Amino acid sequence: MSSAQSDPGVRVVASGPNPAGYRGFSLGEFRFWRDDYFVYVDWPTGSHVASADAFLKALQRDVAWEFFYGIVNFDGVIGTVNHYGTVDLFAGRYNDAWRKAELDHVQNFPTPLIRATFAQMLDDWTNAGFDPFASPDETGSAFGPKHGANTAAVTRRRVTAARMVGLGGDEPLRSDATGHRVNRQFADVAQDEPLVQPQPGFGDRVHAFNLFAYLSRSDVTWNPSVVSVCKDSLYCPTTEEYILPIIHGNDRVEWFVQLSDTIYWEVEDRDSGAVRSRVTMHPGDVAAMPADIRHQGYAPKRAMLLVWENADSALPGLISSGQLPTNPIDF
Ligand SMILES: [Fe+2]
Repeated sequence: MSSAQSDPGVRVVASGPNPAGYRGFSLGEFRFWRDDYFVYVDWPTGSHVASADAFLKALQRDVAWEFFYGIVNFDGVIGTVNHYGTVDLFAGRYNDAWRKAELDHVQNFPTPLIRATFAQMLDDWTNAGFDPFASPDETGSAFGPKHGANTAAVTRRRVTAARMVGLGGDEPLRSDATGHRVNRQFADVAQDEPLVQPQPGFGDRVHAFNLFAYLSRSDVTWNPSVVSVCKDSLYCPTTEEYILPIIHGNDRVEWFVQLSDTIYWEVEDRDSGAVRSRVTMHPGDVAAMPADIRHQGYAPKRAMLLVWENADSALPGLISSGQLPTNPIDF
């Protein structure tokens, strides 16, 4: 076992390379290792096998999103729950069959420890040519014995505007010059920008930009990034293609506005995984995902989706204690 970490006080527990070239990692009572095709996880009461590409795509998002809101299910067995300061790592906890068989397991970790462990695992297990954020048609293979790395891709910074992208001192707009070319499936998206003519003295307060053009230049999929902020109201648009690599379990309501193309959502009960509904969203459709579900999206062609998040940190407690409903609106 060895340890190496930039976070002071955090000690990642990892082994040397196995015959396939990959290091193994331990986090509390969980152990993780991989070979050419698969990732293996075990814990005191059970074990799990997952395809390496699916696991890395989920791991990439959990790391980049700082464990996101609520639950990030890597699949029907493994995942994390964000307690905003600590994180639960679980196996089988949100799976009815695993729970009834009493094989499920949960362990809570300080966020810096699980973040550092996952970040090192992601970097060590991602081979040259594979980008876990890219669509399958736009990246190489995750498989085979370890060959090279793709550190630039797996440490890509997530866009989080303080006010709005394009404002002075905030996240920049995208262009050919910033290395963001128009995606092959958005070649028909107009690239003109609105004319903004603020009165003198208001140049830093009046702003607009072409969101469609901005999204047409996204080089990643299923990665909500913050483009505008008004107090706790965050606009987190994203471009989607193929399958959302995680099953997101909500701890608050999320609104979806379909901006282009089509996404199919599989919606399940957050805690048991029981099927609740299937939602097909076409351009202009709006949906509110309740606070007690989990969902996974399928996009047959690159699609633009506006995810509207409420970052109010009181919401999970108000909803779980019943003071707020799990749905935002009654018809
Ligand atoms: Fe979600």
